[in-house]
Amino acid sequence: MLEVTDLSKSYHSPAGPLPVLRGVTFSMQPGDALAVMGPSGCGKSTLLQILGALDPPTSGAVRLEGIDPYTLPEPEQAQFRNKSVGFVFQDHSLLPQLTVLENVLVPLMVGAEDTLAPQRARKLLDDVGLSARLDHLPHQLSGGEKQRVAIARAMVREPRLLLCDEPTGNLDRTNATAVAELLESVRAAHKTILIIATHSLEIAAHFARRAQLTDGVLKED
Ligand SMILES: Nc1ncnc2c1ncn2[C@@H]1O[C@H](COP(=O)(O)OP(=O)(O)O)[C@@H](O)[C@H]1O
Ligand SMILES: [Mg+2]
Repeated sequence: MLEVTDLSKSYHSPAGPLPVLRGVTFSMQPGDALAVMGPSGCGKSTLLQILGALDPPTSGAVRLEGIDPYTLPEPEQAQFRNKSVGFVFQDHSLLPQLTVLENVLVPLMVGAEDTLAPQRARKLLDDVGLSARLDHLPHQLSGGEKQRVAIARAMVREPRLLLCDEPTGNLDRTNATAVAELLESVRAAHKTILIIATHSLEIAAHFARRAQLTDGVLKED
């Protein structure tokens, strides 16, 4: 379960503190999906970074299965990020010199050896429809295919929480729809908590729960 309680975030600016999130509160069960909508600059990426243990909130708490990552010492916090959270960004950020399969294995280079991982990576690439592309380099893939690799990479450590920050932002409509459908099937198959930031109503409509981020306040539809 993910519990987000009274989360606030202000950035420092020369003109004083810049409040971005105010009292964001919600909770999600395993397998829940939430689309966070709002225009550019409303704080979607800020919220996802806080949830993913990348940037501490100014106040409030995030708990994933009872653990608040910001109360952990740094090595455990990094481990939490690596093991419990998967990220998919607008830009796929694949390593250009590595093959599709190697890119999916990258998150496993940190931490304890995981002998079942290569098998899991192949299965995930099969699930995202890329079993015939294992040895391709990123430049040999279409934009939609690169995002599929990024999804497989995000899932390879079987995270409890999958955070997707405008994952369809660089895709045409057909590929955007395909990526949204793929995220939904991955969520269902793995019972992952999925949170997707998007400014597209059409993309958000694929997910069971939808919320608007307005003036730093998250309001569920
Ligand atoms: N590291 C930062 N330092 C200062 N201000 C920031 C920082 N990151 C984001 N902001 C500001 O916070 C607001 C929300 O940004 P962001 O979370 O990226 O919004 P979104 O993802 O919805 O476009 C914006 O006004 C942005 O300029
Ligand atoms: Mg953003």
